[in-house]
Amino acid sequence: MTTTIPVAGGAFAPYEVVVGRGLLKAAGAEVAALKPTRAFIVSDETVAAIHGETVRASLAAEGLATGLVTVPAGEASKSFEQLEAVLDRLLAEGLDRKSMVVALGGGVVGDLAGLAAALFMRGIDFVQVPTTLLAQVDSSVGGKTAIDTPRGKNLIGAFHQPRRVLADIEALATLPMRQVRSGWAEVLKHGLICDAAFFDWLGNEGAAGAQGDPDALERAVIRSVEIKAQIVGEDEKEAGRRALLNLGHTFGHALEAELAFGETLTHGEAVALGCAMAFRYSAQQGLCAASEAERAEAGIRAAGLPTRLSDVEHTFAADALIARMAGDKKAEGGRLTLILARAVGDVFTDKNVDAEAVRAFLIEEGAA
Ligand code: NAD
Ligand code: GLY
Repeated sequence: MTTTIPVAGGAFAPYEVVVGRGLLKAAGAEVAALKPTRAFIVSDETVAAIHGETVRASLAAEGLATGLVTVPAGEASKSFEQLEAVLDRLLAEGLDRKSMVVALGGGVVGDLAGLAAALFMRGIDFVQVPTTLLAQVDSSVGGKTAIDTPRGKNLIGAFHQPRRVLADIEALATLPMRQVRSGWAEVLKHGLICDAAFFDWLGNEGAAGAQGDPDALERAVIRSVEIKAQIVGEDEKEAGRRALLNLGHTFGHALEAELAFGETLTHGEAVALGCAMAFRYSAQQGLCAASEAERAEAGIRAAGLPTRLSDVEHTFAADALIARMAGDKKAEGGRLTLILARAVGDVFTDKNVDAEAVRAFLIEEGAA
């Protein structure tokens, strides 16, 4: 059984996200139906070793000429160097304008392979085969592709929507549990943004998903993709509503940056903590009831994710966090943009947040 979710709207060609089991084995038929001249897999070394042969054999069984290029696993592969290596390999293999890139992996592979597809011969089609929970519920949907530079994350990229997304719940069985929990933070974020009933389910009956239960995971992925697809369909280029997907990310990114993007906090853990902080700040400012901030925190904690600065073994300096939140610009007396909450399932963008008020809040939260 699979579930198909349409992504449509704006200026891009509509496509579908397929969620279900056994989709890695069915990738050949799914890709062949799009009638490319050939298909070429881009993956990372870890994912290729586990799932590469399943997908390659499935493509070959459909008579598609295929091949595989890998990059080292990890964020460092979102670089000019790896982008050039992938593009060079696609050229060396003789791919043409009707060839298809198959991005097999997590968000790193999806972002890198998607950008390579956007650039190759001014843009060829690609299919996303996300193998992390984060990639299934977030990065594979919506067409944002990018690499990092030493000056910052995701600064070089393109909007390039995939032709199809194949989210195989079975692929998540090999994912380390910390990665599952990290992806779960983005699932929780979708509930917090616009579906209170879904959020409450995630914190109660659905909580087994954060521990890898495939039934709960499947339901969580489906509802998450529905929410992301709707938002992206309304606002592909983030002119308005898509910014709501940044809930928890301004606080979270500042925490990650202060920890030099190391192992102390994964991106998802930082987002989870950032969401809890955004709700508490909203309550402190009288924008939402304190009970709503407690409800948000309880749902996040049910997954074993952090909600308090004291959950992290590090002393954060309020001034340094504010500087990060302001994009390293001088923030004194300045204004910040934050996604704030009226209630669970009801958030909004505030582009006029007083940096001094946030600084006082951070000190209350335990920052020095
Ligand atoms: P990732 O791609 O680095 O994957 C995490 C780790 O899990 C890697 O070591 C990978 O090799 C391994 N892995 C992947 N699938 C596996 C599997 N099934 N079994 C075992 N191991 C597996 O990280 P991620 O969390 O998936 O993605 C993070 C990236 O996504 C960041 O670069 C971020 O900027 C990007 N992102 C992009 C968007 C977007 O809209 N484009 C949205 C959110 C995040
Ligand atoms: N992950 C945020 C976005 O896709 O817009």
